[in-house]
Amino acid sequence: MNKLGPKKQQYNKILLMYSGGLDTSVMLVWLQEHYGAEIYTFTADLGQELADPKQFQEIEKKAYDLGAKKHYTIDLREQFVEEYIFPTIKANGLYQGVYPLSTAIGRPLIAIEAVKIAKKEDIEAIAHGCTGKGNDQIRINVTSKAYAPEIEILQPLIEWNMGRDEEILYAQEHNIPIKAENKKYSIDENLFGRSAECDVIERPEIEPPEDCKSWTTPPSQAPDTPEYITINFKNGIPTGLNGENMNGITLIEKIHELGCKHGIGRIEHMEDRTIGLKSRETYEVPAAMILIKAHKDLEKYVSTKHENSFKTLVDQKWTELVYDGLWVDPLRNALEAFINEINKKVEGKVKIKLFKGNADVVARESPYGLYDLNLITYETKSSFNQNLSYGFIPLWGIQSRMGFLAKKKFEEKND
Ligand code: ARG
Repeated sequence: MNKLGPKKQQYNKILLMYSGGLDTSVMLVWLQEHYGAEIYTFTADLGQELADPKQFQEIEKKAYDLGAKKHYTIDLREQFVEEYIFPTIKANGLYQGVYPLSTAIGRPLIAIEAVKIAKKEDIEAIAHGCTGKGNDQIRINVTSKAYAPEIEILQPLIEWNMGRDEEILYAQEHNIPIKAENKKYSIDENLFGRSAECDVIERPEIEPPEDCKSWTTPPSQAPDTPEYITINFKNGIPTGLNGENMNGITLIEKIHELGCKHGIGRIEHMEDRTIGLKSRETYEVPAAMILIKAHKDLEKYVSTKHENSFKTLVDQKWTELVYDGLWVDPLRNALEAFINEINKKVEGKVKIKLFKGNADVVARESPYGLYDLNLITYETKSSFNQNLSYGFIPLWGIQSRMGFLAKKKFEEKND
């Protein structure tokens, strides 16, 4: 039988995707011990410093303390916003109608960047801290193999057969520092959201405890007065807040802050993973929730009924491809051609009310809105010719009425 895992017992150089958390810190030491390799480490800045701006220096220090040969911290925020978050907003990307793909869209970008470093440093294998059960491994492996089929992928979590408790023990034995929170939950964070897994979250019959949240105010403790904001869009992309233009990163950070304050975007989800396992997930996605809601509303306002119903199908397919780790599939580009075409006219502003955990669209304006007060109003005389109904409705219903009669005839005969 072919061995499917690592091809060699020793490697000269390994690039480790390093977050500074428990798994990858243990891994940094384990990879040196197990494969005799020099370990290069790479931490992608996707805006996870939203929580703690100093953390990249700490991660770098920790990497060197644990024996890394060379550490890379790369600020990918702008690219993440422009090439991953904006397309997700344009596709109204909510997996199973709920989860705005925050973790899923970070993975291909990190994988592509890791491949660049590996090529530059002549590294033969990339290691990462994904388990063999989840979605993140699929996203990273498919993307990096598409960009560099010759580079091996190592998944120590599959190899080393340690549970979380054993990892903590290993960390203690090797003087690997562990953050308190890391002992319990597996966290992934970036500009677009925060996900927390493990521990009691794995018990779907129990409400997720408050300590798995770290960004958002509990809605019950959020301000007692609503706050109204307006978000401007052009070409389907958010461009400003309350009338002030700003770049994508700043805009998302500001909306994030407002969303956190009002307890927006707390999600509890029984999710279908790619490989078919059900998984209990919790997220905090304040900015993603507000932006997708606003975008979806404005897009619907400027698009026809037919565009809207077809767009829903395209969005769903796009979202599933991305969730399922197939970022590189050309179908994504083809779907985006359609999505971008629709979004050309998504321009205007959306007013949102933030209040105790809810972000509700309450008003919108666009030069391309298809709403016409003169046609729709019930109040004054309108130029809409209601006499047309006498002709339209009989025609519209003709086939359905025929079908209804045929069904009735069949049922009478077969009773
Ligand atoms: N279920 C989500 C997804 O597949 C979140 C994964 C979170 N990863 C983590 N390491 N906590 O995108």
